[in-house]
Amino acid sequence: MAKQMKAAVYDAFGSADKLEIREIEVPELKEGEVLVKIKAAAVNPVDSAVREGYLKDFLPVEFPAIPGWDVAGVVEERGFSSRRFQKGDDVYAYARRPLVKYGTYAEYIVLPESYLASKPTSLSFEEAAGIPLVGLTAYQSLFDAGNLQKGQTVLILGASGGVGTMAIQLAKEQGATVVGVASEQNHQYMKELGADHTIKYKDTHIGDAVKEIFPDGVDLIFDCASGETLQQSLVALKPNGKLVSILNQGQDLDKGIDFTYVFVEPNSSQLDRLRELADAGKLKVLVSQTYTLQEAAEAMKQIETKHTTGKIVIIP
Ligand SMILES: NC(=O)c1ccc[n+]([C@@H]2O[C@H](COP(=O)([O-])OP(=O)(O)OC[C@H]3O[C@@H](n4cnc5c(N)ncnc54)[C@H](OP(=O)(O)O)[C@@H]3O)[C@@H](O)[C@H]2O)c1
Repeated sequence: MAKQMKAAVYDAFGSADKLEIREIEVPELKEGEVLVKIKAAAVNPVDSAVREGYLKDFLPVEFPAIPGWDVAGVVEERGFSSRRFQKGDDVYAYARRPLVKYGTYAEYIVLPESYLASKPTSLSFEEAAGIPLVGLTAYQSLFDAGNLQKGQTVLILGASGGVGTMAIQLAKEQGATVVGVASEQNHQYMKELGADHTIKYKDTHIGDAVKEIFPDGVDLIFDCASGETLQQSLVALKPNGKLVSILNQGQDLDKGIDFTYVFVEPNSSQLDRLRELADAGKLKVLVSQTYTLQEAAEAMKQIETKHTTGKIVIIP
């Protein structure tokens, strides 16, 4: 009989209340794949966007579907030809597949082994699960798209959440000067992560506030917030500066801006680099709250507030 697992599933697009905890079959292990016992699964805003059906035109969903793309766990079985990892190895991964069906809010996941990297040894499973999606997003945005260099200045919009906290630390490690935008209650936290300057978005014109610190503007704006926050910031971009957004696809932006939209891709070599930084003490993860699998709907409602600090994690 096929192996069974508990998972959070939904059978139709809709709100977090559509989630149910059910026993389902663990998918069959195919060539090049590994079975991972999930120790922790981080929660991301995109999990809710997928569940609501907002991304269905380019990310097909097959019901019943399990949410979740972030995982830290232990290799339990290997398919034919899988050699990079041994049974018992601790791993982490960004588990987005071309078809949304088997996610990480579950006891097990089957993944191509090319998706996996060794887990940072200095971090707990909960902390490690909080890195892949947001860490890769920050890495690909700052370096692949933004080409951030030592000595440059970066303005991070939405800098106290999952992606922003990774971006502060990665930008500092690169030798950049960092300005973080978030609500005032998170300013101390952003400074502890390395932000050189912090700006609140409420009752402040963000672009003017940045120009008071850097009259010539910043080299890079990394937008993890969009809306009015992004529009206000644009006056603080240097004429030859770059704008990278993970939300805005450029529809309402001046065509003269050097702009890139990033949609994060799985990349296990970059996860190796993030592990090195974590194990060197240069990449920290604040797990602000944990949830059981039974509480998966509550976890999704929390991420939907858009005001989560650090990461929240489900422990199945
Ligand atoms: N394209 C991609 O590949 C990709 C990848 C990852 C994430 N995303 C998207 O990027 C966004 C951020 O993701 P996340 O995981 O970092 O979310 P998150 O953990 O929920 O963090 C949200 C952040 O936004 C801040 N914020 C809320 N309202 C703001 C405003 N009006 N102005 C400036 N900052 C504001 C929050 O700060 P306070 O709590 O202090 O208000 C917090 O720092 C989400 O919409 C997500 O779907 C896209």
